[in-house]
Amino acid sequence: MPEHDVPEHKVPVAILGAGGYVAGELLRLLATHPRFELRAALSRSQAGRPLVDAFPHLRGVLDGHRFAETSAVDTVLTTDQPVAVFACLPHGKSAERIDRLLSQAAAQDTRVHLVDLSADFRLPTAADYEAVYGGKHGAPQRYVDFGCGLPELSPDPPSTHMAHPGCFTTATVLACAPAQAAGLAEPCYRVTAITGSTGSGKTPSANTHHPERHGNIKAYSPLNHRHAPEMEMLLARLGGQPPEVCLAPHSGPWSRGIHATVHLDLVEPMTTAELTECYANFYDSAPFVSVSDTPPRLKDVVATHRCQIGLAARGRRAVVTAVIDNLTKGSAGGALHWMNRLCGFPETTGLELPGVGWS
Ligand SMILES: NC(=O)c1ccc[n+]([C@@H]2O[C@H](COP(=O)([O-])OP(=O)(O)OC[C@H]3O[C@@H](n4cnc5c(N)ncnc54)[C@H](OP(=O)(O)O)[C@@H]3O)[C@@H](O)[C@H]2O)c1
Repeated sequence: MPEHDVPEHKVPVAILGAGGYVAGELLRLLATHPRFELRAALSRSQAGRPLVDAFPHLRGVLDGHRFAETSAVDTVLTTDQPVAVFACLPHGKSAERIDRLLSQAAAQDTRVHLVDLSADFRLPTAADYEAVYGGKHGAPQRYVDFGCGLPELSPDPPSTHMAHPGCFTTATVLACAPAQAAGLAEPCYRVTAITGSTGSGKTPSANTHHPERHGNIKAYSPLNHRHAPEMEMLLARLGGQPPEVCLAPHSGPWSRGIHATVHLDLVEPMTTAELTECYANFYDSAPFVSVSDTPPRLKDVVATHRCQIGLAARGRRAVVTAVIDNLTKGSAGGALHWMNRLCGFPETTGLELPGVGWS
């Protein structure tokens, strides 16, 4: 973005689906962000209630703020400044809502930067979306306005609006990208990724409530998970042979974080030191990715925007482990990372969060 277009004042923010887990994490990050200012936390279910009723961990930080009716988006769009919008809605509900908001903004001549956290604009076309997610896409004509990607793998300026690829995809793609880009491995990535319970959102279900998750672990949708095509799409952009992602997602017993393990068949024998050096070079200018020859620990990235990657290689076999926080790096932090770039702010602004260590 040309320097003269970078907003001088704090950019007003509106959040759609503000009562959910991703929105709650976004509110935590925005509370200390120097360049954004919360203007409207829009909620169907919580309108009128104080934010801190839904998110008591933000008491003392966001006191005085209340959830607004979804129609209150009008008040945010009547501004002569660019507006940052984060859509934190379920897939299948987001596209139509975004379309209405963007039409309204265009009618009022308000410039909007939008990041969608749902799957509605991740795949290349509405037909791809409908094949993977089922149901009719809510606004196929809006695809032209959206890009989808991870900031670490997208050096070019972002599109008008961005679709964030989500948590499993962030961990898996960051773990596979250097191997795919350099053609180090056969392009068949066997992935076991375990997520915490916040990955399922705030509404409990028979499979996700505490007695089921606590002290338990189980696989779901192995080789048939809807995020695998999104991973393959992002990896294919790095060149080389078309990649195949064989994904076995698991539900884990913790609240926050994803631990992904990827098995690689290297095309040439490598040592751990050689593979680690390749990965470290690839992520040399990525401020939030760390590479090591030691397997990372989930606890070290909880509540941070960091991804830690560990490498081990023996002959033609290699194991890559990657850890992220699904709510920070894998969704709210990832969206804020894109929004920093969309608004022309330094990409690390508000995201340099140290780990908490003993979560
Ligand atoms: N949780 C994660 O780790 C994670 C990671 C990456 C991506 N994502 C994606 O981010 C989005 C939000 O996830 P989440 O975990 O925050 O989910 P969540 O806790 O279930 O929150 C979603 C919010 O969307 C609104 N909503 C729910 N049903 C709706 C409907 N039928 N029509 C319109 N609005 C509805 C509600 O907000 P109000 O009642 O306040 O309006 C709800 O609180 C999803 O698309 C999810 O796939 C989540």
